[in-house]
Amino acid sequence: MKSLANNIYSCFKRKGEFSLKDAYSEYFDKPKETVRARIYDNLGIKFERVGKGLYKTIDGDESCVLIEGDGRDLSMLEDSSIDCILTDHPWLDKKSNRGGDRNFATYDCFKYTLDDFKEKTRVLKDGCFLVEILPAENENNFDYLYQIKKYAEECGLLYYSKVTWKKGGFVSNTGRKSKNSQDVMIFSKGKARPLRFDVKKTRETGVEQFMSGTTRMLPTMFDVPPVSSKDKIHQSELPLSLCEQILKFVTLQGEIVLDSFAGSGVVGEAALNLKRNCILIELDHKNVIKIRDRFANNLYFKEVYWNEAI
Ligand SMILES: C[S@@+](CC[C@H](N)C(=O)[O-])C[C@H]1O[C@@H](n2cnc3c(N)ncnc32)[C@H](O)[C@@H]1O
Repeated sequence: MKSLANNIYSCFKRKGEFSLKDAYSEYFDKPKETVRARIYDNLGIKFERVGKGLYKTIDGDESCVLIEGDGRDLSMLEDSSIDCILTDHPWLDKKSNRGGDRNFATYDCFKYTLDDFKEKTRVLKDGCFLVEILPAENENNFDYLYQIKKYAEECGLLYYSKVTWKKGGFVSNTGRKSKNSQDVMIFSKGKARPLRFDVKKTRETGVEQFMSGTTRMLPTMFDVPPVSSKDKIHQSELPLSLCEQILKFVTLQGEIVLDSFAGSGVVGEAALNLKRNCILIELDHKNVIKIRDRFANNLYFKEVYWNEAI
């Protein structure tokens, strides 16, 4: 779902300056406090206060590009051109999902091969992060999850960290499978680039110094509720807040994020919210329509055809 802050931003982008009154009348169906809160939350990010009750949208040239096509074919992207890959690949594990009352994976599924990792490594810049959202390990999938790590290693993607995504308070671990968690698996292309501020060295040298690794220490888990069924536009939609939290650890403003199996396009929204650029690739036309809808009227969104992207 497109956030109210993004709607306000898109609405006033052309006009530049706007008053709180303008925002209230444009979003008359929302409580005034909500509209005001979304503007305040985004001060310094999307909006700037220029006077009493007067705001302007902050310019940025970040963009989100959608390509309808095969995300396993990255030939349209140059070598070392991407600052981060954040993706959740469509892998069907019928055995693990058996017994549930949900319809699993109504989309195309496949298992990663070594070639997938070669391509990811080719397009990533040195030191940058590949983040794979993977199912929690269980008796059915442990060898595949191990295989993924071996493919990555073979391509020069170093194991950086694995952080559990705990999906809210509900606990269901039958021993064979745990339904309320997934893994956020992080690799770096070679040694991780220096994103973390080094307080000690900066103090010693008087010049800003950074050490290898994510922007801050990673948490032991991301505790984020899943998207509720009423708000979901895609079967496997990741929460916006989870994507934002991850991107803050592994990227900087203005950088380029790739999600080659975009689903609902939420990674694109998270990237734009944080002033990162994003390339989304999605194969299924039904999802492409949903992504278009998510970004409707967003000036920073554009769709390109695979042939144009090459
Ligand atoms: C697990 S879902 C991704 C969900 C997404 N992370 C989100 O939060 O909305 C995987 C998506 O990959 C798409 N897909 C499957 N095969 C693909 C391919 N070869 N190239 C691009 N997209 C593909 C599916 O249609 C599905 O929408």
